[in-house]
Parts: sequence; structure tokens; C-alpha cells
Amino acid sequence: MCGIVGYVGNRDCTDVLINGLSKLEYRGYDSAGIAVFDNNQKIRVAKSKGRLQNLIDRMNQDGKPIGNAGIGHTRWATHGEPSDVNSHPHSGGRVTIVHNGIIENYKQIKDYLSDKGVSFASDTDTEVAAKLLDYNYNGSPIETISETIRDLEGSYALGVIFADHPNVVYAVRKESPLIVGVGKDESFIASDVPAVLDYTKNYYLLDHEEIAVLDKTGVKIFDSFGRKIEKELKTADWDVEAIGKGGYEHFMLKEIHEQPTAIRNTIMPRIKDGLPNLEECGITPETLKKFRQIFIVACGTAMHAGMVGKYVTEKLARVPVVVDIASEFRYRDPIVGEGDLVIIISQSGETADSKAAMHLAKKKGAKTLAIVNAMGSSIAREADMLIYTHAGPEIAVASTKAYMVQIAVMYLFAFEMALAVGAIDETECKRLVSTLMETPDMIEKLLEHKETTQYIASSLITADSLLYIGRGLDYALSMEGSLKLKEISYIHSESYAAGELKHGTISLIHDGMPVIAVATQSDLFEKTISNIQEVKSRGAKVILVCRDSYQPEPNTADMKFGLPDLDDLLMPMLAVVPLQLIAYYTSVHKGNDVDKPRNLAKSVTVE
Ligand code: F6R
Repeated sequence: MCGIVGYVGNRDCTDVLINGLSKLEYRGYDSAGIAVFDNNQKIRVAKSKGRLQNLIDRMNQDGKPIGNAGIGHTRWATHGEPSDVNSHPHSGGRVTIVHNGIIENYKQIKDYLSDKGVSFASDTDTEVAAKLLDYNYNGSPIETISETIRDLEGSYALGVIFADHPNVVYAVRKESPLIVGVGKDESFIASDVPAVLDYTKNYYLLDHEEIAVLDKTGVKIFDSFGRKIEKELKTADWDVEAIGKGGYEHFMLKEIHEQPTAIRNTIMPRIKDGLPNLEECGITPETLKKFRQIFIVACGTAMHAGMVGKYVTEKLARVPVVVDIASEFRYRDPIVGEGDLVIIISQSGETADSKAAMHLAKKKGAKTLAIVNAMGSSIAREADMLIYTHAGPEIAVASTKAYMVQIAVMYLFAFEMALAVGAIDETECKRLVSTLMETPDMIEKLLEHKETTQYIASSLITADSLLYIGRGLDYALSMEGSLKLKEISYIHSESYAAGELKHGTISLIHDGMPVIAVATQSDLFEKTISNIQEVKSRGAKVILVCRDSYQPEPNTADMKFGLPDLDDLLMPMLAVVPLQLIAYYTSVHKGNDVDKPRNLAKSVTVE
């Protein structure tokens, strides 16, 4: 969602802002803008609906602001359609701001200010915040920001400049993420670390309601009462290469290929003497034994990883696991409390619904465990226990490697839980761990042969709609396969438990309708094959993802993707790869913007 960048230093500020915003494009946006103090110390604003290139074209035409300090923004529309006028920055008069998040009480503030004679040009909640800052402005930026944020409800990260304080950038946040980058004789603000990595790896994580001041002398940070505070300077462990395409056509393809390394980086430090060891994450067998029930709460792909976690944990540890969509969990008054473990899975660690679900779980007395990829993110910081997935930065909006490491962690967790409650013994646990350790090499081999998935994808591009079916773990995986395809190919698809088709959905099957059937689970295999035959005999074009050793009868499948043999329980680690590739190549064949699908944002920081 919206991306913020700010700069103070000696470089050409507009170039730095545009470069930083380009590194945040993955978050999703529909307009962009900048505000820069020019060489006469006047604020110059340039903004445009559409891609960053539109803004660059506009500046080429109208003149580029030249200066050394300013703020920039990519907007993902919430209040008001994507348009030039609704694009950020917004000005309140003496104050100009960029904003990520939602000001929930903007309507009340707007009414209040309107009564005082203030007028508004846009439909945005951001302009309301800018006008309120201006209304409250008393000549002291820090005092004004402190006073104003007391009146703002909701989530926000703000980059703020004051016309009478040239070449100084102010920043404040509540809920929405914001970092402050520190270079030599220059400083930055940004929604995410990749935006500053070309210049520095050092940054501060701004906490709720802290105010950062960036000027020629460096960075100062104040608490919400205006008292100066000291913070720990962090160093990013990513480098610029990690956020480049590395020779791949798209980030998504690069990230699919990074999966073996991501799994190794994630699981190897958590394995000792052949057994899972999550002590460093605050998880011991003693803690695990005490939980009577587990909830896994997440959104989208992360929730699908939770589905795999449920099947595996219940099967191995015999502990009940409920998987919930975070936006449902938070409002359905769940029966959760002391003695329960709530696992929150999130790549970004900033997803608004997942964060709210975690807060609710904590309030109700449950223990929370976060499985998060983004270091220092809100969910990572606030959970009781934390397992970082080490996927590195995921830039493509469609999640692939983050899902892979989320399920890898779910396996380790399930193994440890099963051992802790005595449902499996050490020998079995070691066997499972060593099988998990084999998966990176097997995925590497799978990725050497992508032709079959390219061929399957080429057969899908004319489809209006298709189904993914499977049973058990294959059903859990089908959910992810279906989401991946629809989000980047724009072809409608649904995932169905294969046994449920007869209860209504089979009426959708018509001549030539593609059905992707996942059948990797030995105990359910014959049953899934029967379901496949039911759709095949009604005209479906069946694409079967199964073990290579299975030779389908001519009346079973039209195309097959064969997988190597592995323990049933771990088959999702392999089977997800062809599903990701089928989605990827379908999107490529259709000429879509694979890494930045329409309407989607990478980090969903609003409800
Ligand atoms: C789909 C996708 C989304 C995210 C979801 C949760 O490819 O990436 O469905 O999984 O928005 O995001 P995080 O994991 O950041 O909480």
C-alpha cells in the first residue's frame, strides 16, 4: 500500500525520491507525487495519477523540482478515486504532507474544520490531516505534530514539511510502518528498507507516535511529548542485489527460484542434532505442552500456509487447530483465551487485520506466536513469541517464497509440537526433519524443468474460469494455487475440496473447462481420481499434479505434471512449485504486469 520516502542531504532530492519510490512500487499504487524545497527554499509539488513514469513525464514537461530536501509518495487509493488531485502530497497551507494509512475520524475533523471556514480540494483523509496540522500550527513543528496526532484516530505514517522550516523533514507514525535511514551527511524516511538501500543500510525503526526530525545536522528523534530520545541504530542484512531482478524477467520468477535457499536459511538454524529447536524463538517443549488448542490467523496466502499447518499439526500432534481469516477472527468474538496459542502468519508483519487479530488474542489472554518475514515489523515486535522466516525481501506482489518458508516453519512447529506432546518419538521426528531437509534440493531439480508448466499455462490463457481440486493437504494447496492464478492472470478460479464438487459446483463443468487436480496424498489418491473422472466425463480438461510414478488412464487427465516421491505429509513443499509456475506463465502469456497486478498492494496496512 502507499509508500513514503523523504530525503535531506546533498544529492538531487527529486532523483533520490523517485529512486526510492521505484523501490516501493511493489507495495502497489495508483498515483505518485513529490514535494521538494527548491533552491529558493520554496516548496515545489509535482504529482500525477498512474505509474511513476507518468510523474517523471510530467516533470520532464513542466520542469523538475531541484533541491536537497523533500518528501515523496506512491498512493493506493482508499478515500477518493485515483486522480491527480487526490494524489499526495497534500498541502494545508504552511504544511505539506504525505501519508500512509487511514485517518478513521477524518469526517469529524473535516466537519470541524469546515465550520471554521477551512475548504478542501480533494476527497482524501490525508488532506484533512494536512489542514488540521496547518490549523494547529504555532510555529513549532514538533509541538504542532504532537498536538495534532492526539486528535487523529486510525493508522498513519506521515512525512511532513513546513514552508517556514526549509530543508527539514519531519516524520511520525502510528500503526503504519516507517523507518528513518541514516547515511553520511544525509538522512531518509521510508515505508520500507529497500527504498534507502542504494544509499545506506543503517536505519532507525520509528515507534508509535515518535517524531523524527531530519535536517543537515542529521536525525533527532522525540517522543510524543517532545522529549528527545536515543534509539538503537539497526543495520539491514539485505543488500542492493537482494532487491534487484538478478537477470530474471520478473521478481516473481526470481523469488520462485530463491525458494530452496530461503528454506535452508529458515530451517537450518532451527535444527539441532536432527531435531527441531525453536528455543531461540522463545518456544520450548514445556511451553508447547501447555496449549489446549491452537488458532492460526492470517490473510490470503499466509492463511493458506496456515491451512497446511493445520493439517500437519493435527495429523502429527493431535492438537485441535482452527484456521481463521484475520478479518473474520477479529470481529466474530472468537472463543479464545488463556491456555490457547494464536499463531499469526504474515510476510510483511504489517497487515492491518492480522495485527488487530493479534491484539485481540492478547487481550483475551491467549499467547501469541508470530511467523513473520519482515524484520522489526509491528507484528514481529508485539507477539509473545517470534519465528522469523528468512526469505529475504519479497518484491513481487504475488507471494511465493514467503509462502514456502511459512509452510516450512509450520512443519518444524508441527514436528516440535508432536514430539513435545509425545505423539511421535524422537526417531520419527528425526526422520521427518531429515525429509524436510531434502526438499530444497528436490525443488532445485524441479525448477530445472519448467517446460511442462509453460505448456500447461499456454492452454489456460483462453479460459474464463477454472477449478482447483484436491483432498486433505492437496485441498489446502489448491487454495494457494487458485489464488496465485487469479491474482496475476485475472482468470477466475476457485479451489474446491474434491469430495464437495457433487454438492453443487459440478454443475459449472462444461466442455473444455480446465480443472487442475492435485493428487499427492496416497490415502486419498483413489478418491481424488474418482472425482477427477467425474469432471472428466462431463467435459473438463483435466491437468493433474501427482507423483511422477502414477500413469493416468486416458480417461483421467489431459495433461500431467509429475512430482518426485516424498513423504505424503511433505508433498505440499514440492507440489506448490508447479502451481506457482503455472500461474506465473499464464500471466506472462497474457502479457500482464506480473509483479504488480492491478488493484493489489503488497502490504495491506488498512482494513
Ligand atoms: C497473495 C498475497 C496476499 C498476502 C496477504 C497477507 O499473493 O501475497 O494474499 O499473503 O495480503 O499479507 P502478509 O503476509 O504480509 O500479512
